[in-house]
Amino acid sequence: MTQKNIPWYMNAVFYEVHIRAYCDSNNDGIGDIPGLISKLDYIKNLGVDCIWILPSYPSPLKDDGYDIADYYGVHPDYGTLEDLQRLINEAHQRGLRIITDLVLNHTSDQHPWFQQSRSDPNSKYRDYYVWSETDKKYQDARIIFLDTEKSNWAFDEKAGLYFWHRFYTTQPDLNYDNPAVIEEMRQVMKFWLDMGIDGFRADAVPYLIEREGTNCENLPETHRILKDFRSYLDKNYKGKILLAEANQWPQDVLPYFGDEDEFHMGFHFPVMPRIFMALGKGDASPIHWIMAQTPTIPDYTQWCIFLRNHDELTLEMVTEEERQWMWEQYAPDPRMRLNLGIRRRLAPLLDNDLRKIMLANALLFSLPGAPIVYYGDEIGMGDNIWLFDRNGVRTPMQWDESDNAGFSSAEADELYAPVIDSNEFSYKTVNVAVQEKDPHSLLNQVRRLIEVRKAHPIFALGEYEFLAKEHTQCLSILRTHTNEQVLCLLNLTDMDQNLSLDLSKYAGKELVDLMTGKSQGVIAETTTFFQLDPFGFQWLFIK
Ligand code: NOJ
Repeated sequence: MTQKNIPWYMNAVFYEVHIRAYCDSNNDGIGDIPGLISKLDYIKNLGVDCIWILPSYPSPLKDDGYDIADYYGVHPDYGTLEDLQRLINEAHQRGLRIITDLVLNHTSDQHPWFQQSRSDPNSKYRDYYVWSETDKKYQDARIIFLDTEKSNWAFDEKAGLYFWHRFYTTQPDLNYDNPAVIEEMRQVMKFWLDMGIDGFRADAVPYLIEREGTNCENLPETHRILKDFRSYLDKNYKGKILLAEANQWPQDVLPYFGDEDEFHMGFHFPVMPRIFMALGKGDASPIHWIMAQTPTIPDYTQWCIFLRNHDELTLEMVTEEERQWMWEQYAPDPRMRLNLGIRRRLAPLLDNDLRKIMLANALLFSLPGAPIVYYGDEIGMGDNIWLFDRNGVRTPMQWDESDNAGFSSAEADELYAPVIDSNEFSYKTVNVAVQEKDPHSLLNQVRRLIEVRKAHPIFALGEYEFLAKEHTQCLSILRTHTNEQVLCLLNLTDMDQNLSLDLSKYAGKELVDLMTGKSQGVIAETTTFFQLDPFGFQWLFIK
């Protein structure tokens, strides 16, 4: 792959936005699409390539929009379809791409399909969902929302039958054994692609099909359906992408890339908790380990990597012992825990220590894949663990120190959620306006990281090799692409580290710090020595 023919998503940086939380244009206390449009220049200035918006469809919001009541509309809180069209157009005018969630697995129980399905056994919609006379089928399927759901079956009085649901009871699963459901979803894709959307983050894809005697995840039938969606996309919409949300081990995500005929991208879930483990233990081994478990993926596919998102920091892909350690270390208050995870944001997780926050970002950006930045984490926003469910990591974006953090002019008690106003995380100190002015702020450092990474596709595309693995206090990665090399050195501890590396292969070549542009000397014939500050990192281009 030469630099020229790299598909856009391979070297992209994504920015995840919750419309509700970003900017309120009509002062009703809820963020909306015109509000987001008014902030597109800010997003453009971050240097990212693509915005991922969380579901913005009509919904009773029992799962913050992941319970869709109409796939063809916009939630009235957020605006209109015309607003969304304008958002897509305005993003495109700025050279930004925009993808949205495609919630394939389930609908809201308020969706007319479900309402007709439950009320009329003769309706064509009866077969749109998974009904059963007993709740004893598919017992090997795990429960995902452990804190609230006791079963994947719920009894519906009207139908006199049980229906299947992998998430909340209010989210009945669609029946993908019914070709009519597949056709409905193709139509949904068509609708949004025709509006110009650049692709979909496909939600909860492992669970489309159920089969007795299996755990009902990653089944071959599910892959066949997903390939069908991909082939529809390829035939009709060039350059648009599908991103798989499959919270699985990397070897189980591999089939989702298919033979470049299923997903373009897939989240790499298990690397994420290991970044926190590495930082918390001052030990690079968890990263070495998970990358060794990560298979090579087809040429034109890419991992999506992230530190945090709108959900709890999931600990599904760690051992029981590691989970306990993560909880003790990062969620000492039981209220910080949710399901098998932690409902906290990046900055509070890392003690609001700028060095650690930058190190975590630099570590993420040093790995192969396309990174995603979660809104608010670029300024180190705090969280509110006392809010319901995962709402504590979805509070209003902090723009400035004015009332409501500049998010809305509504009365404070009319906001959909309170702004963070406590101690070191108060919007009065943590906000975009303050950080814009400070060249050393987190915001400006994250911007620089994005800028450097974008200027060097080697980060996204290159091979990687861990060096000095025995020096576990540091993570040392040699990235190589065509005939270029970048050395990523990260100190995971709070002490100075002296690192010695055998780089004799490159003896005589100059090392240039990509963040500062300054020369760091010449590579030695034998051992080259490096000194890393506590929680410091260096990205060194071998010139
Ligand atoms: C994954 C989404 O990220 C999460 O927010 C949602 O609750 C579930 N899928 C169910 O749609």
